[in-house]
Amino acid sequence: MNRKRYLVLAMALFVLGLSSLHAQKPTFQYGPWVTNVSETGFTVVWTTPVKTFCRVDIAPDDGTPWGLKNRQEFYQVISGRRQAGTFHSVEVSGLEPGRSYRYKVYGKVVTDDSDAYGIDYGPEVALRLEDDSTVRTLDKNAASCSFFMLNDIHGNDTRFQALTKNIDTDVMDFFVMNGDMVSYITDEASLHQHVFGAGKGIVSGLPVVYARGNHETRGRDAHLFARNCPTSTGEPYYMFRQGPVAFLVLDAGEDKPDRSPEYSGYADFDSYRQTQLEWLKSVVQDPVFIEAPLKVVLMHIPAIGNKKSWYGQKWVADNFVPVLNAAGVDLMLSGHHHEHVYMETGSCGNGFPIIANDDTDRLEFTADADGYKVVTYDQEGNAGHVYEMKNSSN
Ligand SMILES: [Fe+2]
Repeated sequence: MNRKRYLVLAMALFVLGLSSLHAQKPTFQYGPWVTNVSETGFTVVWTTPVKTFCRVDIAPDDGTPWGLKNRQEFYQVISGRRQAGTFHSVEVSGLEPGRSYRYKVYGKVVTDDSDAYGIDYGPEVALRLEDDSTVRTLDKNAASCSFFMLNDIHGNDTRFQALTKNIDTDVMDFFVMNGDMVSYITDEASLHQHVFGAGKGIVSGLPVVYARGNHETRGRDAHLFARNCPTSTGEPYYMFRQGPVAFLVLDAGEDKPDRSPEYSGYADFDSYRQTQLEWLKSVVQDPVFIEAPLKVVLMHIPAIGNKKSWYGQKWVADNFVPVLNAAGVDLMLSGHHHEHVYMETGSCGNGFPIIANDDTDRLEFTADADGYKVVTYDQEGNAGHVYEMKNSSN
């Protein structure tokens, strides 16, 4: 009897030990996804189910073994102190333009951090990466630029996945999410689940360029959008360059006046757009922008100024468009209308064509110094609208 009790106790301790070890093993909850890509770096973002101390190791994608010698370590650092938590954002820097890098996330679960001078951890391991874990930095000297774009998915995982299946990510420079990928961010986890979770296997290697839509401004956790998509400006509007194309990512904010009852007093987009306008006037003077043979604007709400335009749309048509016209913009890519809209040059004060992509289509963009081509594809992969522009300045 005593021997039997001993065996049961030993078995229970063994199982308890196993489950405790399992609980201490670090895992991803959502992500990783790559964003904020530039010529010299990018940011890797992910969440973990429990507090974990993590780092990102980087090595050139040069076919060499994943050894200790060729790796660089990067941590999430706040004012000189490395950070543990459940939300992780690690900025990788010091890279070379147009080069591919492998990365792996390592972590150890924080089991007790009550002692400021002695923190206890579980074992350190590499967190699992199921798919591609290489990232290519941008390069303004590249001969071409390619990306694909989704918009107005509104949390529909089925449509997201139908539109992204069979994408050849190797030939793409980035993945544009042109707003309203979710209907609101009442819970930050909905952004993780329906955007970065739905894009799992793509966004871990292909950088995300996220143009905030009016729906991403809604909900209790909407202010947390920024930490999920860090940018060079710290704002949802920014400029970057890939190959011959300079991109302006703009944010029209909400579509209705700030005082509209739907916003419960939270909307302050008039001053936000005004501040952005001042930034826009300045950034179009940047040589990186001026020298680009092609100039493309990514903005969720198309800057269409006509009798049907709602408040925010009319504001950007009245205020952003004159600056964009003077800056020689070649194309604006948008969404918002849940149908394909093409506004030809000059049809509403625009000195460039405006394409609002349908919510049921994927838009693919390719460009070289001679011009660009835009093709839309439906969920079955059938090509739809095609637009081509030859660059007359070359
Ligand atoms: Fe929208």
